Amino acid sequence: MVRLMPGLSLVTLLLATVPVLLPAAFQADAADIDHGRYLFDAAGCLGCHTDKENKGAPLAGGRRFETPFGVYYSPNITPDRMTGIGNWSMADFLRALRYGENPDGENYFPVFPYTSYTKMSDGDILDLKAYIFSLAPVRQPNLEHEAGRVFGSRFMVGPWKVINFRAGPMKPVPDRGKKWNRGAYLVEALGHCGECHTPRDRLGGTLEHQHMAGTAKGPGGEAIPNITPDQETGIGKWPDADLKALFSIGMLPDGDFVSGGMAENVSNTTGKWSKADAEAVIEYLKSLPPVINKIKKDKKKKTGTDEWN
Ligand code: HEC
Ligand code: HEC
Repeated sequence: MVRLMPGLSLVTLLLATVPVLLPAAFQADAADIDHGRYLFDAAGCLGCHTDKENKGAPLAGGRRFETPFGVYYSPNITPDRMTGIGNWSMADFLRALRYGENPDGENYFPVFPYTSYTKMSDGDILDLKAYIFSLAPVRQPNLEHEAGRVFGSRFMVGPWKVINFRAGPMKPVPDRGKKWNRGAYLVEALGHCGECHTPRDRLGGTLEHQHMAGTAKGPGGEAIPNITPDQETGIGKWPDADLKALFSIGMLPDGDFVSGGMAENVSNTTGKWSKADAEAVIEYLKSLPPVINKIKKDKKKKTGTDEWN
């Protein structure tokens, strides 16, 4: 039933209560599948939900995530009715991305970055669902997480959310331009860049005063660079052309190529941005408060293209 939560949007309410009265723009046949595909790439859904290492089918899940809290596996999000999300209504899908809850009202673990996706607009979430539901269903049962009693308990995510999670779509900042706001949306809502680039406390909450300032211990223990515009320890001195080269083909200013999580991000996400979107992201990143935080680059062997690896 409907519960009144802060940030609960009108559309969510409508979807939960009187689907018949949905405004035309929010009915499935009004959804824009092509736009959904662009959002799907910009939000990087494919990489996490595909077990590429074991040649798993796209979006059929089973990818392994080793975190300080245990081992989690991504679920099947193909439209298969038995093992995927084929039976989900629009309200179920919106609830997962906006509130981090499954159709039974239980919490998802934040290894699913709904802390960022909550910032997406209702219309974009609808288009995204339409695209995913246009893909071929794959029958593949989900794997159980291996996270122990505390961190494997969906109930325990409740208190974590109270501290670390604010639900609701992003609002444009009126005294910034359209381009800056687009960049903010691509970085904070879709690209979930902070899920890697913002350091975390011991319980996995992001440290907002160090927003995008990098961390020696990112997901999977990888070193994540500072992408605030600090002149010495961040990207403050990077010309826009260098950032464009990085986002389009993954090339660093020294001619080397990015590895690990960022390599996957370039092939699934940043490399698929339109030119205008890449420019919007650059304007936004360069406007962030600079944070001094020197991160030493990983010396380990370049591993290719695995996010969280
Ligand atoms: C960083 C990895 C990661 C990314 C990126 C990611 N997911 Fe997930 N997702 C997960 C994991 C792990 C879970 C399982 C969470 C749990 O069991 O609590 C999950 C759960 C889900 C679920 C719940 C499925 C179910 O059966 O209950 C949906 C729906 C979903 N993701 C959709 C998406 C969409 C759409 C995107 C892109 C906008 C996306 N995910 C991006 C890792 C990811
Ligand atoms: C899965 C984790 C992950 C995500 C998500 C991620 N990055 Fe990265 N990023 C990295 C890692 C790791 C590196 C370092 C790669 C290397 O040097 O080989 C990096 C490097 C970078 C660099 C180069 C900085 C430097 O000093 O070399 C920029 C710029 C950057 N990322 C921007 C972004 C943006 C913008 C987003 C969101 C659209 C994003 N990243 C999302 C992990 C991530």
